[in-house]
Amino acid sequence: MILQQASKRADILRDSINQHNYQYYVLDDPDIPDAEYDRLLRELIDIETEFPELIIPNSPTQRVGASPLSEFEQVKHIMPMLSLANAFNEDEMKAFEKRVNDRLETESIIFSAETKLDGLAVSIIYEQGVLRTAATRGDGYTGENVTHNIRTISSIPLNLIGDDIPDLLEIRGEVFMAHKSFEELNDKQRQKNEKLFANPRNAAAGSLRQLDPKITAQRALSFYAYSIGEYKGDVVFKTHIETLDQLKDWGVPISPETKKMKNLDACFDYYKDIGERRSGLAYEIDGVVFKVNDLMQQQAMGFVSRSPRWAIAYKFPPVEEITKILDIEVQVGRTGAITPVARLEPVFVGGVTITNATLHNLDEIKRKDVRVGDWVYIRRAGDVIPEVVRVIVEKRKDARRNEIREFVMPSVCPVCGSGVERQEGEAVYRCVGGISCAAQNIQAIIHFVSRKAMNIDGLGEKIVVQLTETGLVNSVDELYSLSYEQLVELERMGDKSAKNLIEAIETSKQTTLERFIYALGIREVGEATARSLAQHFKEFEPIENATTEKLELISDIGPIVAHNIHSFFQQKHNIEIIVALKKYIHWDKVESNESSTLEGQTFVITGTLSSMGRDEAKQKLIALGGKVSGSVSKKTSYVVYGDSPGSKYEKAMQLGIKVLTEEEFIELIK
Ligand code: IVH
Repeated sequence: MILQQASKRADILRDSINQHNYQYYVLDDPDIPDAEYDRLLRELIDIETEFPELIIPNSPTQRVGASPLSEFEQVKHIMPMLSLANAFNEDEMKAFEKRVNDRLETESIIFSAETKLDGLAVSIIYEQGVLRTAATRGDGYTGENVTHNIRTISSIPLNLIGDDIPDLLEIRGEVFMAHKSFEELNDKQRQKNEKLFANPRNAAAGSLRQLDPKITAQRALSFYAYSIGEYKGDVVFKTHIETLDQLKDWGVPISPETKKMKNLDACFDYYKDIGERRSGLAYEIDGVVFKVNDLMQQQAMGFVSRSPRWAIAYKFPPVEEITKILDIEVQVGRTGAITPVARLEPVFVGGVTITNATLHNLDEIKRKDVRVGDWVYIRRAGDVIPEVVRVIVEKRKDARRNEIREFVMPSVCPVCGSGVERQEGEAVYRCVGGISCAAQNIQAIIHFVSRKAMNIDGLGEKIVVQLTETGLVNSVDELYSLSYEQLVELERMGDKSAKNLIEAIETSKQTTLERFIYALGIREVGEATARSLAQHFKEFEPIENATTEKLELISDIGPIVAHNIHSFFQQKHNIEIIVALKKYIHWDKVESNESSTLEGQTFVITGTLSSMGRDEAKQKLIALGGKVSGSVSKKTSYVVYGDSPGSKYEKAMQLGIKVLTEEEFIELIK
């Protein structure tokens, strides 16, 4: 880029960043996702690094935010509240480490690691241990006096506790809103027909910057401290972590994820670990922060324009992005459920490119007022299906004529042409075609062969589609008459795979009654219900012939499931398939559950067990009358932990629940 071009581009970027800053900091109403903002800022930083002569004093890179709202009393920070430099990949982290090493002329730096909370920064001043004033960061130099609101946050002490209370202490930290409180707040907003908050950070900001503290008091805000500013006291701090520990002793909350890192590899492990646990944390984080732990070393390094040289925020890939809805189509699931799916202009979110997002059902589309042609926020958290968060309604005015169009639920199934209906009280529309509908049939076969059902390895969706399209398999029983010669002819099926598949089909013939029931894919009959049915009736025929009254005698079967089971066995088509299947399939005699030594006990398994898979461990516990749950609560009896246990282990410790090593667990089930 030549200087002239760079200068023009820098001007455009500054205008645009200033505009977004105003929206974000002053109006609490961001008009672009963080990722987009970061990109603009980064582009500007890059230009200014390449052409330092273009830096102007009021460039957004030279300050932290926009000017504060005028209604609040202004507070000048004695020490400016600066920002953090970002890293987005391992190379940028290595470059950070190198900068630190070079400056300090040493090779072995200890870092502190913390989560990067996604809320808003505040400074809270205690005089003689008493909370005096609190201010937002504002533009980094002048913030807004929010003492009245900060006092409503119950986790922030009004008086410090413990020994050696300093004469003056300025605590800096993040005010944020936990996911649960955010959802509850938005539910309330919805009920009152008021504007929804886009994310927990805006909810926190909107709640803290209220002129009326009564409103703030009703919003569940949280706080973690991450550093100190001004300080006059007797305790001498040598490291950052010591400082945080002391704050904790004085009654100030700090993040439980704060740790000491002995080198960069440990930092990478921390980043990975937190990244994996991110979607399970109670609050939103957008990365992790590493700081040089030794305070003398921090001082020696100093600051560069807007951020300290001794700290870095290692950001996670964004989970929210904006994109355009190209179309809304429907998908037909195994139970005939018709799910509207948004086809999107491809967009990179949370580390992968997304082209589809679920819209759940028609009610959801109406509630969010999503239309074809709309620009929307897309969110992807952990492994969950990406979803449309909200529409950017303001963008509709820029659309071409007829580009924006409302979605209409089709009146016939797009796959088989059967009718579509909605049962009373249900949000979903369903195709009434049953397994005569190809889409439902394919899904029924996929379910039938799945691991927890008949466990036929090597029969993925693509092969199932080929088998049905070539007419080789019209219903699940026909899987058992497939031959090697027929399979080897299929696309992408080699000699070895065909042989393996034939063998897997053969092996699946010997199964258990509960697997067989589950494999049938009766609506709302999952593994647990299939197991209860098998345990209760011991044989297949009594289940087939059971009345709804008889079915309802089983503890976890209510009227709806009983109805589903009963009507499944009333369908002639289903009975024909079952008769055909019974020619091939055998199951072991159902052992009764007499040995219910673990009756009434609930187990949670976390981490990797070395001697068996989690499913196997689960089966064993159930066979002994125990229950297995996915989350730890006060009702949990034991948490079994293997290698690299997750947060469930910590939760168990917090709640004082008994934890078992793998050895202890094996001893227990012996
Ligand atoms: S340290 C001079 N630690 O990120 C550095 N900041 O981009 C002061 N933040 O304004 C910040 N979690 O609002 C620090 N553990 C953490 C943080 C954190 C979130 C926010 C804070 C700050 C911004 C910097």
